[in-house]
Amino acid sequence: MVEAVKEKIDNMKILIIGSQGMLGSAVLRALPHAESLDKKDIDITKRNRVLQKISSFRPDIIINCAAYTQVDKAEKERELCYEVNCKGARHLAEAAKKVGAILIHISTDYVFDGNEKDGYNEDAKTNPINFYGRTKADGEKEITKILDTYYIIRTSWLFGKGGKNFVDTIKEKCLRDKNLAIVDDQKGSPTYTEDLASFIGEVCKNMNNYPFGIYHITNKGTCTWLTFAKEIKKMIKAKCAIKKITSAELQAPAKRPSHSILRNNKAKPLRSWKDALKAYLEESS
Ligand SMILES: NC(=O)c1ccc[n+]([C@@H]2O[C@H](COP(=O)([O-])OP(=O)(O)OC[C@H]3O[C@@H](n4cnc5c(N)ncnc54)[C@H](OP(=O)(O)O)[C@@H]3O)[C@@H](O)[C@H]2O)c1
Repeated sequence: MVEAVKEKIDNMKILIIGSQGMLGSAVLRALPHAESLDKKDIDITKRNRVLQKISSFRPDIIINCAAYTQVDKAEKERELCYEVNCKGARHLAEAAKKVGAILIHISTDYVFDGNEKDGYNEDAKTNPINFYGRTKADGEKEITKILDTYYIIRTSWLFGKGGKNFVDTIKEKCLRDKNLAIVDDQKGSPTYTEDLASFIGEVCKNMNNYPFGIYHITNKGTCTWLTFAKEIKKMIKAKCAIKKITSAELQAPAKRPSHSILRNNKAKPLRSWKDALKAYLEESS
C-alpha cells in the first residue's frame, strides 16, 4: 500500500499548511507550484473543517509547517499550544489517512531533554522539559499512531525571512545597543529555513530515496547561542560588546535543553551553519 502511494509522485498535488510562517513561506518558495493554506484558510484545531478542506483538495502530499511556536508563552497558554501542536497534528494525520496522502510534519529538538551531550539519534526516546516540547512530542505520537505514510522532520534553531528569529534580533541589538548578554550553556544547530525547505522539496521530488519515518535535519555543526551571536556580530562587523550569561540568569519562563543536537543518520547533511548564516545575511541585507 505504501509503495502504491509513492508511485503517484510523478503527478502529485502538494498542499502546504502554515504557508505564511517563517518555514512555510520558505517551503512555498522551494515548491512554487504547490497549493497553500494559512491560518485564515484553515484552523488546524478544528477537526471537521480540516477533514472537509483536505477532502476537497485531495492532495497527494500535505506539508505541515503550522504550529504554536512561542516557547515561553506556551507555559501559560497551555491549552492553545496543545490544541495546535498535538490535536492539529492529529487532525492532519486523520485527513491524510482519509484521502490516502503522505504527511510531512515538522517537529523540533525540544522533544528531547538535552542531557545527551553527543546528541540524539532519530530513534532516541523523547523526554521534553518544557510544555511546547511536550505538545510537539505528543503531536508526533498522534501521527505515528494514525499513519504509516509520514515523514516527521525534526529541526532546530530556525532563522530565515518572514519570522521573528535570533539572527534578526541580534543584528538589531548589535546596531542599537552597546552591551549584549547571551546564554552560553545551551548548545544546538542553527538552521536556515531556505536550506530545510530545499530538503523538503528534495524529499517530495525523490521520495523513493527517502523511506518514511523520522528525520533529523539541521545545518551542519553546533554552537551555543553566545557563539552564534558572536558570529553574527563578526559577519555584520558590529562593535557591540557581548558577555556570556547562564540560562539561570536569563530566567526565561520555559526551560531549554542544554544539549539539543540532532544527529542525522539518514540524509545528506546540509551545509554548515556558518555558510548558511553568511548566505542569509547577504540575502537579507
Ligand atoms: N522557529 C524555530 O526555531 C523552530 C525550531 C525547531 C522546530 N520548529 C518547528 O518548525 C515549524 C515551523 O516553525 P516556524 O518558526 O516557521 O513557525 P511560525 O513562523 O510561528 O509559523 C507557524 C505558522 O502556523 C500558523 N498557525 C498557528 N496556529 C495555527 C492554527 N491553529 N491553524 C493553522 N495555522 C496556524 C501561524 O499563524 P499565526 O502566525 O497567524 O499564528 C504561522 O503562520 C513548527 O512546526 C515548529 O515547531 C521551529
